[in-house]
Amino acid sequence: MISTTHDIRQQFPFIVEHKNAIYFDNAATTQKPQIVLESIQNYYKRVNSNIHRGVHSFSIQATEQYEEARNTIAKFINASKPSEIVFTSGTTHSINLLAECLFNTYFHENDEIILSVLEHHSNILPWQNRGKKNKVKLQFATINENFQIDVQHLKSLVNEKTKLIAISHVSNTLGSINNIEEIILFAHTYGIPVLIDAAQSIAHLPIDVQKLDVDFLVFSGHKIYAPTGIGLLYAKEKYHEYMVPLSSGGGTIIDVDLYNTQFANVPLRLEAGTPNIEGVIGLKAAIDFINKNGGIHQFYLWEEELRKYLYQQLNENFSDLIIYTTPQTPSVSVISFNVKNEHPYDVGTLLNNYGIAVRTGHHCTQPLMKYLKIQGTIRVSLAVYNTFEEIDKFIIALNKSIKMLS
Ligand code: ALA
Repeated sequence: MISTTHDIRQQFPFIVEHKNAIYFDNAATTQKPQIVLESIQNYYKRVNSNIHRGVHSFSIQATEQYEEARNTIAKFINASKPSEIVFTSGTTHSINLLAECLFNTYFHENDEIILSVLEHHSNILPWQNRGKKNKVKLQFATINENFQIDVQHLKSLVNEKTKLIAISHVSNTLGSINNIEEIILFAHTYGIPVLIDAAQSIAHLPIDVQKLDVDFLVFSGHKIYAPTGIGLLYAKEKYHEYMVPLSSGGGTIIDVDLYNTQFANVPLRLEAGTPNIEGVIGLKAAIDFINKNGGIHQFYLWEEELRKYLYQQLNENFSDLIIYTTPQTPSVSVISFNVKNEHPYDVGTLLNNYGIAVRTGHHCTQPLMKYLKIQGTIRVSLAVYNTFEEIDKFIIALNKSIKMLS
Protein backbone atom coordinates (compact mmCIF):
# COMPACT_ATOMS: atom_id res chain seq x y z
CA MET A 1 0.00 0.00 0.00
CA ILE A 2 1.39 3.44 -0.92
CA SER A 3 0.24 5.12 2.31
CA THR A 4 0.54 3.51 5.72
CA THR A 5 -2.64 2.96 7.71
CA HIS A 6 -1.53 5.78 10.00
CA ASP A 7 -1.33 8.16 7.02
CA ILE A 8 -4.70 6.97 5.76
CA ARG A 9 -6.31 7.49 9.18
CA GLN A 10 -4.91 11.02 9.36
CA GLN A 11 -6.82 11.85 6.18
CA PHE A 12 -10.21 11.18 7.86
CA PRO A 13 -11.30 14.00 10.19
CA PHE A 14 -13.97 11.75 11.82
CA ILE A 15 -11.35 9.13 12.69
CA VAL A 16 -8.96 11.78 14.06
CA GLU A 17 -11.80 13.42 16.02
CA HIS A 18 -12.95 10.15 17.63
CA LYS A 19 -9.58 8.74 18.67
CA ASN A 20 -11.04 6.30 21.16
CA ALA A 21 -13.97 5.10 19.07
CA ILE A 22 -13.86 2.07 16.80
CA TYR A 23 -15.96 2.48 13.69
CA PHE A 24 -16.89 -0.96 12.34
CA ASP A 25 -20.09 0.02 10.52
CA ASN A 26 -18.61 0.82 7.13
CA ALA A 27 -21.10 -1.24 5.15
CA ALA A 28 -23.77 1.20 6.36
CA THR A 29 -21.69 4.23 5.46
CA THR A 30 -18.00 5.08 5.31
CA GLN A 31 -16.25 8.08 6.82
CA LYS A 32 -15.18 10.86 4.44
CA PRO A 33 -11.60 11.96 3.78
CA GLN A 34 -10.55 15.60 4.12
CA ILE A 35 -10.11 15.91 0.34
CA VAL A 36 -13.85 15.17 -0.09
CA LEU A 37 -14.87 17.74 2.52
CA GLU A 38 -12.58 20.33 0.94
CA SER A 39 -13.85 19.65 -2.58
CA ILE A 40 -17.38 20.52 -1.47
CA GLN A 41 -16.32 23.64 0.40
CA ASN A 42 -14.17 24.80 -2.53
CA TYR A 43 -17.04 24.25 -4.93
CA TYR A 44 -19.36 26.48 -2.87
CA LYS A 45 -16.67 29.07 -2.19
CA ARG A 46 -15.37 29.42 -5.74
CA VAL A 47 -17.78 28.03 -8.31
CA ASN A 48 -21.35 27.55 -7.06
CA SER A 49 -23.74 27.99 -9.99
CA ASN A 50 -26.36 25.95 -11.75
CA ILE A 51 -25.17 23.62 -14.52
CA HIS A 52 -26.08 23.11 -18.18
CA ARG A 53 -28.00 26.39 -18.09
CA GLY A 54 -25.79 29.46 -18.18
CA VAL A 55 -23.46 31.39 -20.43
CA HIS A 56 -21.72 33.05 -17.49
CA SER A 57 -18.34 31.71 -16.51
CA PHE A 58 -19.40 30.34 -13.08
CA SER A 59 -22.08 28.20 -14.69
CA ILE A 60 -19.66 27.05 -17.36
CA GLN A 61 -17.10 26.15 -14.69
CA ALA A 62 -19.69 24.29 -12.61
CA THR A 63 -20.83 22.38 -15.70
CA GLU A 64 -17.24 21.51 -16.55
CA GLN A 65 -16.58 20.20 -13.03
CA TYR A 66 -19.79 18.16 -13.07
CA GLU A 67 -19.01 16.59 -16.45
CA GLU A 68 -15.36 16.06 -15.54
CA ALA A 69 -16.60 14.09 -12.53
CA ARG A 70 -18.73 11.98 -14.87
CA ASN A 71 -15.56 11.24 -16.91
CA THR A 72 -13.58 10.28 -13.80
CA ILE A 73 -16.33 7.96 -12.60
CA ALA A 74 -16.72 6.41 -16.08
CA LYS A 75 -12.97 5.68 -16.04
CA PHE A 76 -13.16 4.27 -12.52
CA ILE A 77 -15.58 1.53 -13.61
CA ASN A 78 -14.25 1.49 -17.20
CA ALA A 79 -17.53 2.50 -18.88
CA SER A 80 -17.00 2.87 -22.61
CA LYS A 81 -18.58 6.36 -22.59
CA PRO A 82 -19.33 8.94 -19.88
CA SER A 83 -22.91 9.08 -21.23
CA GLU A 84 -23.44 5.60 -19.76
CA ILE A 85 -23.22 7.15 -16.26
CA VAL A 86 -26.50 8.57 -14.88
CA PHE A 87 -26.24 10.43 -11.58
CA THR A 88 -28.88 9.56 -9.00
CA SER A 89 -29.28 10.04 -5.26
CA GLY A 90 -27.97 6.53 -4.55
CA THR A 91 -28.49 2.82 -5.13
CA THR A 92 -32.16 2.85 -4.12
CA HIS A 93 -32.95 5.71 -6.49
CA SER A 94 -30.91 4.05 -9.26
CA ILE A 95 -32.83 0.76 -9.04
CA ASN A 96 -36.18 2.54 -8.81
CA LEU A 97 -35.28 4.68 -11.82
CA LEU A 98 -34.26 1.64 -13.83
CA ALA A 99 -37.37 -0.28 -12.78
CA GLU A 100 -39.57 2.67 -13.70
CA CYS A 101 -37.96 2.88 -17.15
CA LEU A 102 -38.09 -0.84 -17.85
CA PHE A 103 -41.70 -1.25 -16.68
CA ASN A 104 -42.54 1.70 -18.91
CA THR A 105 -40.90 0.37 -22.07
CA TYR A 106 -39.51 -3.15 -21.79
CA PHE A 107 -41.48 -5.64 -19.64
CA HIS A 108 -44.75 -7.25 -20.70
CA GLU A 109 -47.35 -9.20 -18.75
CA ASN A 110 -46.09 -12.67 -17.69
CA ASP A 111 -42.43 -11.72 -18.05
CA GLU A 112 -40.15 -12.89 -15.24
CA ILE A 113 -37.31 -11.25 -13.28
CA ILE A 114 -34.75 -13.31 -11.37
CA LEU A 115 -33.45 -11.93 -8.06
CA SER A 116 -31.91 -13.80 -5.12
CA VAL A 117 -32.90 -14.37 -1.50
CA LEU A 118 -29.91 -12.38 -0.26
CA GLU A 119 -30.84 -9.10 -1.95
CA HIS A 120 -31.10 -5.85 -0.03
CA HIS A 121 -34.70 -4.59 0.14
CA SER A 122 -33.65 -1.91 -2.38
CA ASN A 123 -33.22 -4.62 -4.99
CA ILE A 124 -36.51 -6.35 -4.18
CA LEU A 125 -39.12 -3.69 -3.50
CA PRO A 126 -38.79 -1.73 -6.79
CA TRP A 127 -39.43 -4.99 -8.72
CA GLN A 128 -42.01 -6.36 -6.28
CA ASN A 129 -44.23 -3.24 -6.33
CA ARG A 130 -44.23 -2.78 -10.07
CA GLY A 131 -44.23 -6.52 -10.77
CA LYS A 132 -47.50 -6.99 -8.89
CA LYS A 133 -49.13 -4.11 -10.71
CA ASN A 134 -47.95 -5.23 -14.16
CA LYS A 135 -48.22 -9.03 -13.69
CA VAL A 136 -44.49 -9.57 -13.98
CA LYS A 137 -43.35 -12.49 -11.82
CA LEU A 138 -40.31 -12.54 -9.51
CA GLN A 139 -38.16 -15.67 -9.14
CA PHE A 140 -35.57 -16.04 -6.38
CA ALA A 141 -32.27 -17.90 -6.52
CA THR A 142 -31.26 -19.45 -3.18
CA ILE A 143 -27.80 -19.46 -1.61
CA ASN A 144 -25.21 -22.24 -1.33
CA GLU A 145 -23.20 -23.56 1.65
CA ASN A 146 -20.73 -20.69 1.21
CA PHE A 147 -23.48 -18.06 1.58
CA GLN A 148 -23.17 -17.03 -2.09
CA ILE A 149 -25.97 -16.99 -4.65
CA ASP A 150 -26.38 -20.59 -5.84
CA VAL A 151 -25.47 -20.23 -9.51
CA GLN A 152 -26.86 -23.65 -10.47
CA HIS A 153 -30.19 -22.82 -8.87
CA LEU A 154 -30.26 -19.42 -10.56
CA LYS A 155 -29.57 -21.05 -13.93
CA SER A 156 -32.43 -23.50 -13.38
CA LEU A 157 -34.85 -20.56 -13.01
CA VAL A 158 -34.07 -19.14 -16.45
CA ASN A 159 -36.70 -19.74 -19.11
CA GLU A 160 -38.09 -17.99 -22.19
CA LYS A 161 -40.06 -15.58 -19.97
CA THR A 162 -36.96 -14.33 -18.11
CA LYS A 163 -36.36 -10.71 -19.09
CA LEU A 164 -33.91 -9.50 -16.42
CA ILE A 165 -31.58 -10.84 -13.76
CA ALA A 166 -30.98 -8.34 -10.92
CA ILE A 167 -28.53 -9.44 -8.22
CA SER A 168 -25.98 -8.05 -5.84
CA HIS A 169 -22.26 -8.37 -6.40
CA VAL A 170 -21.63 -8.66 -2.66
CA SER A 171 -24.11 -9.41 0.11
CA ASN A 172 -24.40 -6.33 2.35
CA THR A 173 -25.23 -8.59 5.29
CA LEU A 174 -22.75 -11.44 4.84
CA GLY A 175 -19.97 -9.94 2.74
CA SER A 176 -19.93 -12.93 0.37
CA ILE A 177 -18.90 -12.18 -3.22
CA ASN A 178 -21.24 -13.67 -5.79
CA ASN A 179 -20.04 -15.29 -8.97
CA ILE A 180 -21.43 -12.54 -11.18
CA GLU A 181 -19.03 -13.32 -14.03
CA GLU A 182 -20.58 -16.77 -14.55
CA ILE A 183 -24.12 -15.44 -14.11
CA ILE A 184 -23.65 -12.63 -16.66
CA LEU A 185 -22.06 -15.00 -19.18
CA PHE A 186 -24.91 -17.47 -18.79
CA ALA A 187 -27.61 -14.77 -18.96
CA HIS A 188 -26.16 -13.37 -22.17
CA THR A 189 -26.29 -16.75 -23.92
CA TYR A 190 -30.08 -16.32 -23.56
CA GLY A 191 -30.00 -12.59 -24.41
CA ILE A 192 -31.04 -11.64 -20.86
CA PRO A 193 -29.66 -8.35 -19.49
CA VAL A 194 -28.18 -8.27 -15.98
CA LEU A 195 -28.31 -5.57 -13.32
CA ILE A 196 -25.57 -5.70 -10.69
CA ASP A 197 -26.13 -3.99 -7.35
CA ALA A 198 -22.58 -2.95 -6.55
CA ALA A 199 -23.48 -0.95 -3.41
CA GLN A 200 -21.32 -3.21 -1.24
CA SER A 201 -18.59 -4.15 -3.70
CA ILE A 202 -17.65 -0.74 -5.06
CA ALA A 203 -15.53 0.23 -2.03
CA HIS A 204 -13.63 -3.06 -1.97
CA LEU A 205 -13.28 -4.59 -5.44
CA PRO A 206 -12.11 -3.17 -8.76
CA ILE A 207 -15.06 -3.10 -11.17
CA ASP A 208 -14.68 -3.12 -14.94
CA VAL A 209 -18.11 -2.94 -16.54
CA GLN A 210 -16.76 -3.70 -20.00
CA LYS A 211 -14.83 -6.77 -18.87
CA LEU A 212 -17.87 -7.96 -16.91
CA ASP A 213 -20.04 -7.05 -19.91
CA VAL A 214 -22.70 -6.08 -17.38
CA ASP A 215 -25.76 -4.24 -18.71
CA PHE A 216 -26.69 -2.15 -15.67
CA LEU A 217 -24.78 -1.43 -12.47
CA VAL A 218 -25.63 0.75 -9.49
CA PHE A 219 -23.92 2.06 -6.38
CA SER A 220 -24.05 4.82 -3.76
CA GLY A 221 -21.30 7.35 -3.16
CA HIS A 222 -21.56 7.27 0.62
CA LYS A 223 -20.30 3.68 0.82
CA ILE A 224 -17.14 4.64 -1.07
CA TYR A 225 -15.95 7.59 1.04
CA ALA A 226 -18.15 10.14 -0.80
CA PRO A 227 -21.09 12.15 0.58
CA THR A 228 -24.60 10.83 1.07
CA GLY A 229 -27.27 11.64 -1.52
CA ILE A 230 -25.21 10.80 -4.59
CA GLY A 231 -24.97 7.57 -6.56
CA LEU A 232 -25.23 6.31 -10.07
CA LEU A 233 -26.84 4.06 -12.57
CA TYR A 234 -24.50 2.69 -15.23
CA ALA A 235 -26.54 1.70 -18.29
CA LYS A 236 -24.97 0.14 -21.38
CA GLU A 237 -25.68 2.35 -24.39
CA LYS A 238 -27.56 -0.44 -26.16
CA TYR A 239 -30.33 -0.13 -23.52
CA HIS A 240 -30.68 3.67 -23.64
CA GLU A 241 -33.68 3.40 -25.94
CA TYR A 242 -35.60 1.77 -23.05
CA MET A 243 -34.63 4.44 -20.58
CA VAL A 244 -37.61 6.72 -20.73
CA PRO A 245 -38.60 7.89 -17.27
CA LEU A 246 -41.96 9.01 -15.98
CA SER A 247 -40.38 11.82 -13.99
CA SER A 248 -39.02 14.56 -16.19
CA GLY A 249 -38.49 18.29 -16.07
CA GLY A 250 -35.76 20.91 -16.30
CA GLY A 251 -32.55 19.77 -17.94
CA THR A 252 -34.02 16.68 -19.61
CA ILE A 253 -35.15 18.18 -22.91
CA ILE A 254 -34.13 19.45 -26.34
CA ASP A 255 -37.40 21.12 -27.24
CA VAL A 256 -40.78 21.58 -25.54
CA ASP A 257 -44.06 22.90 -26.82
CA LEU A 258 -47.32 22.95 -24.92
CA TYR A 259 -48.32 19.39 -25.86
CA ASN A 260 -45.12 17.62 -26.90
CA THR A 261 -41.50 17.28 -25.84
CA GLN A 262 -38.36 16.13 -27.56
CA PHE A 263 -36.17 14.64 -24.85
CA ALA A 264 -32.37 14.83 -24.61
CA ASN A 265 -30.29 11.66 -24.76
CA VAL A 266 -29.28 9.61 -21.74
CA PRO A 267 -27.88 10.64 -19.27
CA LEU A 268 -29.44 14.13 -19.26
CA ARG A 269 -32.99 12.93 -19.88
CA LEU A 270 -32.74 10.93 -16.66
CA GLU A 271 -31.29 13.73 -14.52
CA ALA A 272 -34.36 15.91 -14.08
CA GLY A 273 -34.09 19.15 -12.11
CA THR A 274 -31.01 20.71 -10.56
CA PRO A 275 -28.85 17.75 -9.60
CA ASN A 276 -26.72 17.15 -6.53
CA ILE A 277 -23.71 19.02 -7.93
CA GLU A 278 -21.78 19.06 -4.64
CA GLY A 279 -22.38 15.31 -4.31
CA VAL A 280 -21.01 14.64 -7.80
CA ILE A 281 -17.93 16.74 -7.01
CA GLY A 282 -17.52 14.94 -3.68
CA LEU A 283 -17.78 11.57 -5.41
CA LYS A 284 -15.05 12.55 -7.85
CA ALA A 285 -12.87 13.64 -4.92
CA ALA A 286 -13.46 10.27 -3.21
CA ILE A 287 -12.31 8.45 -6.33
CA ASP A 288 -9.27 10.73 -6.57
CA PHE A 289 -8.56 9.83 -2.92
CA ILE A 290 -8.69 6.10 -3.72
CA ASN A 291 -6.47 6.50 -6.78
CA LYS A 292 -3.93 8.62 -4.87
CA ASN A 293 -3.71 5.98 -2.16
CA GLY A 294 -2.87 3.06 -4.39
CA GLY A 295 -6.23 2.16 -5.93
CA ILE A 296 -9.11 -0.02 -4.81
CA HIS A 297 -7.20 -3.31 -5.13
CA GLN A 298 -4.67 -2.08 -2.57
CA PHE A 299 -7.58 -1.24 -0.26
CA TYR A 300 -8.91 -4.77 -0.76
CA LEU A 301 -5.54 -6.37 0.10
CA TRP A 302 -5.36 -4.52 3.42
CA GLU A 303 -9.00 -5.20 4.25
CA GLU A 304 -8.58 -8.88 3.38
CA GLU A 305 -5.77 -9.21 5.92
CA LEU A 306 -8.01 -7.57 8.51
CA ARG A 307 -10.97 -9.80 7.62
CA LYS A 308 -8.92 -13.01 7.90
CA TYR A 309 -7.54 -11.89 11.25
CA LEU A 310 -11.01 -11.01 12.53
CA TYR A 311 -12.41 -14.37 11.41
CA GLN A 312 -9.53 -16.21 13.08
CA GLN A 313 -9.95 -14.23 16.32
CA LEU A 314 -13.70 -14.85 16.43
CA ASN A 315 -13.14 -18.56 15.81
CA GLU A 316 -10.35 -19.01 18.32
CA ASN A 317 -11.69 -16.93 21.19
CA PHE A 318 -15.36 -17.92 21.34
CA SER A 319 -17.21 -21.22 21.41
CA ASP A 320 -20.69 -19.74 21.39
CA LEU A 321 -20.75 -17.84 18.07
CA ILE A 322 -22.55 -18.68 14.86
CA ILE A 323 -20.58 -17.08 12.03
CA TYR A 324 -22.30 -16.63 8.67
CA THR A 325 -19.31 -17.21 6.43
CA THR A 326 -16.79 -20.00 5.86
CA PRO A 327 -13.03 -20.04 5.26
CA GLN A 328 -13.82 -20.89 1.61
CA THR A 329 -16.22 -18.01 1.03
CA PRO A 330 -14.82 -15.31 -1.25
CA SER A 331 -15.65 -12.21 0.72
CA VAL A 332 -15.11 -8.52 1.30
CA SER A 333 -14.35 -7.20 4.78
CA VAL A 334 -17.76 -7.89 6.33
CA ILE A 335 -18.44 -10.60 8.91
CA SER A 336 -21.89 -11.32 10.34
CA PHE A 337 -22.40 -13.48 13.39
CA ASN A 338 -24.65 -14.21 16.33
CA VAL A 339 -23.96 -15.11 19.93
CA LYS A 340 -25.96 -18.22 20.80
CA ASN A 341 -29.07 -17.41 22.85
CA GLU A 342 -28.42 -13.66 22.81
CA HIS A 343 -30.25 -11.00 20.84
CA PRO A 344 -27.96 -9.11 18.42
CA TYR A 345 -29.28 -5.76 19.73
CA ASP A 346 -28.13 -6.59 23.27
CA VAL A 347 -24.64 -7.42 22.07
CA GLY A 348 -24.54 -4.31 19.87
CA THR A 349 -25.68 -2.09 22.72
CA LEU A 350 -22.99 -3.42 25.05
CA LEU A 351 -20.33 -3.01 22.37
CA ASN A 352 -21.44 0.59 21.98
CA ASN A 353 -20.62 1.11 25.65
CA TYR A 354 -17.02 0.26 24.75
CA GLY A 355 -17.08 2.83 21.94
CA ILE A 356 -17.49 0.22 19.21
CA ALA A 357 -19.95 0.88 16.38
CA VAL A 358 -21.31 -2.26 14.68
CA ARG A 359 -24.63 -2.75 12.96
CA THR A 360 -27.18 -5.15 14.40
CA GLY A 361 -30.51 -6.35 13.05
CA HIS A 362 -31.79 -7.51 9.69
CA HIS A 363 -29.63 -5.12 7.63
CA CYS A 364 -32.53 -4.44 5.22
CA THR A 365 -32.42 -8.10 4.16
CA GLN A 366 -35.44 -9.59 5.89
CA PRO A 367 -35.95 -12.29 3.21
CA LEU A 368 -32.37 -13.47 3.88
CA MET A 369 -33.02 -13.48 7.63
CA LYS A 370 -36.15 -15.57 7.03
CA TYR A 371 -34.20 -17.91 4.75
CA LEU A 372 -31.53 -18.38 7.46
CA LYS A 373 -34.28 -18.61 10.11
CA ILE A 374 -32.78 -15.87 12.25
CA GLN A 375 -34.00 -12.46 13.41
CA GLY A 376 -30.81 -10.59 12.72
CA THR A 377 -27.05 -10.61 13.08
CA ILE A 378 -24.22 -8.56 14.49
CA ARG A 379 -22.32 -7.21 11.50
CA VAL A 380 -18.74 -6.00 11.58
CA SER A 381 -17.76 -4.18 8.41
CA LEU A 382 -14.24 -2.89 7.92
CA ALA A 383 -12.74 -0.18 5.75
CA VAL A 384 -9.27 0.89 4.70
CA TYR A 385 -8.68 2.96 7.89
CA ASN A 386 -9.39 0.08 10.30
CA THR A 387 -6.52 -1.69 12.07
CA PHE A 388 -5.49 -4.97 13.73
CA GLU A 389 -5.30 -3.13 17.03
CA GLU A 390 -8.97 -2.15 16.73
CA ILE A 391 -9.85 -5.81 16.09
CA ASP A 392 -7.97 -6.82 19.26
CA LYS A 393 -9.91 -4.22 21.27
CA PHE A 394 -13.16 -5.40 19.69
CA ILE A 395 -12.44 -9.03 20.67
CA ILE A 396 -11.81 -8.01 24.28
CA ALA A 397 -15.02 -5.91 24.34
CA LEU A 398 -17.05 -8.74 22.78
CA ASN A 399 -15.74 -11.15 25.38
CA LYS A 400 -16.71 -8.79 28.21
CA SER A 401 -20.14 -8.13 26.63
CA ILE A 402 -20.92 -11.84 26.35
CA LYS A 403 -19.84 -12.42 29.97
CA MET A 404 -22.09 -9.57 31.08
CA LEU A 405 -25.07 -11.08 29.26
CA SER A 406 -24.65 -14.64 30.52
N1 ALA B 1 -27.54 -0.76 3.11
C1 ALA B 1 -26.81 -0.30 4.24
C2 ALA B 1 -26.35 -1.42 5.12
O1 ALA B 1 -26.16 -2.52 4.66
C3 ALA B 1 -27.49 0.78 4.97
O2 ALA B 1 -26.13 -1.21 6.30
